[in-house]
Amino acid sequence: MCGIVGYAGRGGAAGEIFECLKKLEYRGYDSAGISTADRGEIFTFKRSGRVQCLSEGIKSLPGSVGIGHTRWATHGAATDANAHPHVSGAFSVVHNGMIENYAELKSELAASGRKFLSQTDSEVIAHLLDYYYDGDLADAVRLTCARLKGCWAIAVLCTHFDGFAVACRGMPVILGRGDANYAASDVNALAGRARERCILGDGCMALVTPRGIQVLDGALAPVKPVFGALGAEEEGESGQDCAHYMLREIRCNARTMRRTCAAFLSSGGGAELYSRLASADMIVLVGCGTAYNAALAGARLLGGAYDCPVTARLAGEARCDPPRVTRRSVCIAVSQSGETADTIAAAGILRAAGAYVIAMTNVGYSAITRLADRVLPVCAGPEICVAATKSYIGQLACFHMLASPSCAALRSKCICAVADDVEKLAFDGEYALVIARLCVNSRAVFFLGRGADVEVAVEGSLKLKEVSYVFSDGLSAAELKHGTLALVDEGVLSVVLVTDAALADKCKNAVEQVLSRRGRVAVVTTLADVHAELCGRVDASWLLPAAPAHLAHFVAATALQLIAYRAALLAGHDPDKPRNLAKSVTVE
Ligand code: M6R
Repeated sequence: MCGIVGYAGRGGAAGEIFECLKKLEYRGYDSAGISTADRGEIFTFKRSGRVQCLSEGIKSLPGSVGIGHTRWATHGAATDANAHPHVSGAFSVVHNGMIENYAELKSELAASGRKFLSQTDSEVIAHLLDYYYDGDLADAVRLTCARLKGCWAIAVLCTHFDGFAVACRGMPVILGRGDANYAASDVNALAGRARERCILGDGCMALVTPRGIQVLDGALAPVKPVFGALGAEEEGESGQDCAHYMLREIRCNARTMRRTCAAFLSSGGGAELYSRLASADMIVLVGCGTAYNAALAGARLLGGAYDCPVTARLAGEARCDPPRVTRRSVCIAVSQSGETADTIAAAGILRAAGAYVIAMTNVGYSAITRLADRVLPVCAGPEICVAATKSYIGQLACFHMLASPSCAALRSKCICAVADDVEKLAFDGEYALVIARLCVNSRAVFFLGRGADVEVAVEGSLKLKEVSYVFSDGLSAAELKHGTLALVDEGVLSVVLVTDAALADKCKNAVEQVLSRRGRVAVVTTLADVHAELCGRVDASWLLPAAPAHLAHFVAATALQLIAYRAALLAGHDPDKPRNLAKSVTVE
């Protein structure tokens, strides 16, 4: 959940690392820091707060090799002392992940007289390196890594080495080659810098100098790295001049729908997937957060297409209480990043129990792809905003493709037609501001819907609370009268989704129930008659482009994303970096 960077080149390392860290900041933004090495000395500057806090302090860091970090706090508060890098003797270290046995290591090291300056689990790594070092950096890294339990990635600077070392277990490290050599947690950090990239193998280390990159396995035997060109997607998106990634990414929803369908159709593997799903005795979808909300929609879609039971499970729960799968069962692990610890664990448990695992992910080189039997790409491109938007839309498109065994091409055509409206909405959805204003002026916001709108309501609620910090919940409009109605009064807003004519009357009942308790109501609908009937009676009514009921979630979800974005701005928050959160949740 933290971001690590290493640079070995000929220019000023600190400035280069600073730029790379800015692109990794979505992985955590509690603190940041950089160490450089120059003429046998290490120079470090670190601060609590965002990467930008480093801008002045790093100007005095000399040297053309260095490492950097942006932190999402797990062990110890977001203070200067807990910020990485951590230094011990000849070493400086940055770390992503968790050292599960750090307490044991810390007592051992403290007993031998070592002083700790932070509450982090990471600082033990610096002390271990210094303890094991006898002039051979690779060996010190090997011995140190052998002591670390858990999943982690580290970058190490040593005063006696003209470069840096990186090593990983269960966490990604990408190596980059260009005019200089790099390593980073995510390929995004290398966009515009490296020309080629290579994924460091699990359990391996790399020694990176301005002259080259040497990869070694866990026993220090050389491994030939396989570099590939940085793809256009990885080089970042251009041409969309938005103030925030969140809006820019919502504006990629339509493109994501088109690309995800096209990738599925051109992959040529649809027939095999369809026959596996058709012969499954159970289909289990696992995911967390927004990916789980997409899985809820996926369960509805797949349940309508295949005869076996289809369930969506929260990955964090499924890993503790896994369903009883067989060799005929299929698990679809849904994860934008492909790095979410709970999703990886749940998928791994189900695979070990015999299930065939399909990874539905936006990141082709992620951990979940290495675990899965089959990968289904969500073609959203890099998603930087912590709040998932275009990846959710891509996951919906992917589920539609999976749920169309005999009509995928036709379904894709229909999705592309809806994508045109989604595009217009994403660029012109000014009415979102009206509802956003109601949201931020409310004590609580309930998102209500029936049928497929329930899943959209749940996701819309997550989006709003995540970026605006307004309390919110999403539920079936049918459930309102079974408890939540007790909370409704003039300070509470209910956003009622209506996209299925067959369920419109039931939604209108919910509107009446709220209005009769003096609650405020905003209607979000694709149905012109519902809008016409309600717009004069409720606080706001937003008529969205018409869409067939089974595809309306693309339109409705985009509208709710826009509302959340506008609400974040009205509330004065940075929508891209909600407090306390980070993009890839690689810890349990
Ligand atoms: O990378 P993943 O899709 O596995 O991430 C799962 C959740 O952590 C993620 O969707 C989270 O809920 C988002 N911040 C929601 O916007």
